[in-house]
Amino acid sequence: MKKQKSLIYKCSSCGHEEPKWLGRCPECGEWNTFVETAVNNAVNNRRSESRTRSDSRSVPQTLPLSVVDPAEGSRIGSGIGELDRVLGGGIMKCSAVLVGGEPGIGKSTLLLQLAAAVQTKGRVLYVSGEESAGQLRLMADRLGLSKDKNSMERIEILCTGSLEEIETVLNAVKPVLVLVDSAQTLFSADGGSAPGGVNQMKFCSFELISWVKEHDAALFLTAHVTKEGVIAGPKTLEHMVDTVLYFEQNDKSSALGGTTDCRFLRAAKNRFGSVDEIGIFTMGEQGLSPVEDTGRLFLVRREGELPPGVATAAVLEGSRTILVEIQALTIPAKGSMSRVFSDKIDSGRVSRVSAALEKHLGLRLSDQDLYVNAAGGIRITEVGVELALAFALYSARTGLALPADMAIAGELSLTGEIRPVRRLAGRVKTATNLGFGSFLGPAAENQPVHGLKAVSDIKSAVKIIYKKT
Ligand code: TYD
Ligand code: MG
Repeated sequence: MKKQKSLIYKCSSCGHEEPKWLGRCPECGEWNTFVETAVNNAVNNRRSESRTRSDSRSVPQTLPLSVVDPAEGSRIGSGIGELDRVLGGGIMKCSAVLVGGEPGIGKSTLLLQLAAAVQTKGRVLYVSGEESAGQLRLMADRLGLSKDKNSMERIEILCTGSLEEIETVLNAVKPVLVLVDSAQTLFSADGGSAPGGVNQMKFCSFELISWVKEHDAALFLTAHVTKEGVIAGPKTLEHMVDTVLYFEQNDKSSALGGTTDCRFLRAAKNRFGSVDEIGIFTMGEQGLSPVEDTGRLFLVRREGELPPGVATAAVLEGSRTILVEIQALTIPAKGSMSRVFSDKIDSGRVSRVSAALEKHLGLRLSDQDLYVNAAGGIRITEVGVELALAFALYSARTGLALPADMAIAGELSLTGEIRPVRRLAGRVKTATNLGFGSFLGPAAENQPVHGLKAVSDIKSAVKIIYKKT
């Protein structure tokens, strides 16, 4: 066959192809990354030829959905309760999980602990392009993993980033679980132009994902995300994998929050479970320890009265209720515009709640700068936090402290009404178990909830709490 060559333009950052040169890549947004690349038409011709040949031979088989085996049940326990929780009940076979996070957050630690704890008799391959075998052994010793002889024997370590070497080992070892640390260290001779670039990472990750899917194994792949938000790397992998987990840390340096060194594992995407669940860990001498009893984790230990500006919210994080201290501070605005400083609760929500307070209670907040924080550095996205947020702001602005033993949940609508929230009875129960004597919230829809002070609008709620007439 005569070799024909034609030219295309390929982005050296993400691998996107265009027939014409462009200044900016429409896929990844990078500038001046298109390079002229020759495509070998002979290869393409051969591909399409083989396709027509196979077409004439056999038609790909379809299956009625009713006879397909449900994949459920083919999960492996990770041996780490908090990880199972975010994954949706264990590691799904034939699946790929991306673990992203800033350097130093604990990705390698998590993978090594997982290698030791995973509940399988099969073999575990830990591929490290970051640490040497010696360093990994030191880390395992430090984590106290070496004590368990059985698990130590089943873990195979391979220190390389070369896809060809990894594939050779995969076919020889046939592991049930493959851990790769990290995606950014992978490279392959067939992976395209720029070594170490996004292209290479995508190509190698895709090959590894294909391998585990064909061999009934599971893959965990770490990826660094930097503070500056260079997410082009891991982001391009998100669509390829089944589950994306991001590791976050609370801000220990923050003046108000950060009582404990917590790490949160959040699912940004999960084909096999909900993305509401978070895994909570603390990092200590023995590595990551799961925090199952999260009840008091986000409360500040205090004796006696609460200071003004503090309210305790009972919010849902996936399937559990957590109690979080919401802190607010209002000071006269420095500029002509009032500003909201809140990174743990969406600042749009803070603005809406303060507008509702101003309108329905006549509480002047629009000339104030508002600072809002959640203790323990946890990010709260659940709507049930609104009533507690409203009271933290009210208390901060008026200087009137709230009762220390009161927990709050409820959605505040723009009309000043307090709207029902999900699983109210469960929230009240958790708060009562943790020693909260009273609970302020919306009236329950069907049956009365024991221990609940039910309120229907913000005005009457303020009256009830501050006994105003
Ligand atoms: P590491 O897992 O290497 O982070 P990543 O792979 O995400 O870059 O570990 C992160 C940090 O955790 C490191 O600064 C050291 C600390 N650490 C502990 O505090 N205790 C431990 O037992 C281990 C293994 C690490
Ligand atoms: Mg690491």
